[in-house]
Amino acid sequence: MTHRLTACTLALVLASGLSFAQNGRSLEVDITKSVAPIQPTMWGIFFEDINFAADGGLYAEAVMNRSFEYPNPLQGWKSFGNVTVLDDGPFEKNPHYVRLSDPGHAHKRSGLDNSGLFGVAVKEGGDYRFSVWARAPKGGTGKIRVELVQTASPAEKQYFAQKKIEIASTEWQKYEVILHSDRTDPKATLRIFLETSATPVDLEHISLFPVDTWKGRPGGLRKDLAQALADLHPGVFRFPGGCIVEGSELETRYNWKNTVGPVENRPLNQNRWEYTFQYRFYPDYFQSYGLGFYEFFQLCEDIGSEPLPIVNCGLACQYQNDSPDAHASLDELGSYIQDALDLIEFANGSPDSKWGSVRASMGHPESFNLKYLGVGNEQWGSEYPERLEPFVKAIREAWPDVKIVGSSGPNSEGEQFDYLWPEMRRIGADLVDEHFYRPYDWFLSQGARYDSYSRKGPKVFAGEYACHAKGKKYNHFYASLLEAAFMTGIERNADVVHMATYAPLFAHVEGWQWRPDLIWYDNLNSYRTASYQVQKLYSDYCGESVLKTLSDGSPLCGAEGQDGLFASAVQDGDKIYVKVVNTTDKASNICLNFKKKRKAAEPRAVEMVQLRSDDLYSDNDLKNPEKYSPVRKPFEYTPGSDLICEPYSFNIYIFSLK
Ligand code: AHR
Repeated sequence: MTHRLTACTLALVLASGLSFAQNGRSLEVDITKSVAPIQPTMWGIFFEDINFAADGGLYAEAVMNRSFEYPNPLQGWKSFGNVTVLDDGPFEKNPHYVRLSDPGHAHKRSGLDNSGLFGVAVKEGGDYRFSVWARAPKGGTGKIRVELVQTASPAEKQYFAQKKIEIASTEWQKYEVILHSDRTDPKATLRIFLETSATPVDLEHISLFPVDTWKGRPGGLRKDLAQALADLHPGVFRFPGGCIVEGSELETRYNWKNTVGPVENRPLNQNRWEYTFQYRFYPDYFQSYGLGFYEFFQLCEDIGSEPLPIVNCGLACQYQNDSPDAHASLDELGSYIQDALDLIEFANGSPDSKWGSVRASMGHPESFNLKYLGVGNEQWGSEYPERLEPFVKAIREAWPDVKIVGSSGPNSEGEQFDYLWPEMRRIGADLVDEHFYRPYDWFLSQGARYDSYSRKGPKVFAGEYACHAKGKKYNHFYASLLEAAFMTGIERNADVVHMATYAPLFAHVEGWQWRPDLIWYDNLNSYRTASYQVQKLYSDYCGESVLKTLSDGSPLCGAEGQDGLFASAVQDGDKIYVKVVNTTDKASNICLNFKKKRKAAEPRAVEMVQLRSDDLYSDNDLKNPEKYSPVRKPFEYTPGSDLICEPYSFNIYIFSLK
């Protein structure tokens, strides 16, 4: 170990105003050869409909219970006058609809108010597309009024946007109007009422979306949230979760086949997170599946990510329901395996194939070029490998190029982990999914986790991870810093780890079940957490190949005696990115050297990017969305000079080889 306090260090300490720097530590970056290529899939995202991530989040639908299919068909709606619920509607899988009829008195009205998911949010100057399937069941021309009604008690009119729709057919038809909002209101109400009392109307699939969605797609995604994903340039996109894949019971597992085709006919499903935590119940939490597998694949294509869908392996969530009869028996597994094969056909099959034609009918005749498929989530016990094995056999036979992701269970180590990893090798999974929601000391001690992994057999997919501090299980900067530190170990081992995705991704401030999360929002605004910034920095400075970094012969990985420092380095064309994380409250000076070929020019310092703070236990929020943001600054480098690595900092030093 090198302990030095050079003149250069002293000068920098004084110049930077730091009162104390830890002893010098050498860091040699070998640019003579690369250790391994970094997979383009390395830094990705994990989507699960938890914390109102889909309905109420990324999926921009404002109406709650638009198809009247909640267990209480009028949940989310306030009806007045003469409103009846009927169940022989035009959409087989969503049969309920409402009939607005004569209220019986000239001075009364029949209609409905919808309070949206945490309110119907509108922005000043925004246009909102209202649509409804309707008919006049008894003939004649029925007229409805559609309004946006303000939250606060108004001086005069309640509504601030209004349109009328005439319904003149006894056949079901789709009607659409645009409502223009002259104000911002996070919690407006959508009101619909019958103007023509003598002529009843039937209404089904009542919907309201901003016109300004991601890519301007009608019925599309919330723009700010999709943009936050695009800005991460995720290499891989895992969907649709997590435990939601498994369901509390198999009947409510995530069934991708229910999520494709016309949205009106995608059946509602329970959301597995509605009652998971006794301290946070969300009885209104359902999945409309408006954000379904077609939309996931399309989003992957939009933002350049490899899609990684996960399918149920015939096991319900073992945490919630581990009795043998909660699961599909081996004899019953056929339909689950067929669902997986059909999914690959949906993504990649020719437009003439059964499921490829569904994709084509939705507007995408070209293949989505699916390369990865996960089977099972956090499974454990022998029941998992014995189910995975026939999946692998069938997939290999039908689609030999598709890489299969198996699971190592819910824990980062321990009995199940030790049992499942060899099983994954035996079965021949291409990648193994590892999950770790762990406290500070775990992250600090796992910098070398992958150094000793076998280089043969399955690769690692670090599929769910986040620093969950005891007593501080919420987003804060220090947790993100430890994630950054740990990620140097992933990067140094890019030959073994091929994918990594922080989890969960999204959370609504009024509807969360699980913290911390990467991106938070209310109905109008969103912010990106410090953990998001860390993920983005790794993605932005991903590089093409890993370089060996040694500190006195060992990796700098937070090991004992290494002063809480972690480091890694990558090459990206003619650029070198050296990442150093200081997890302590003391500055450290690092004596950097490049090992280079004889006569090769010395790398030249370009600038550095830094995420740092002394305010450890808070994060960005809706009012201060950029409190924790990376800053760019100049730095100087001459061979053997010391870099001052400030306390609590994640630093990326950028060098040019030109
Ligand atoms: O990310 C939240 C949950 O954590 C996932 O659904 C599950 O896989 C894990 O337990």
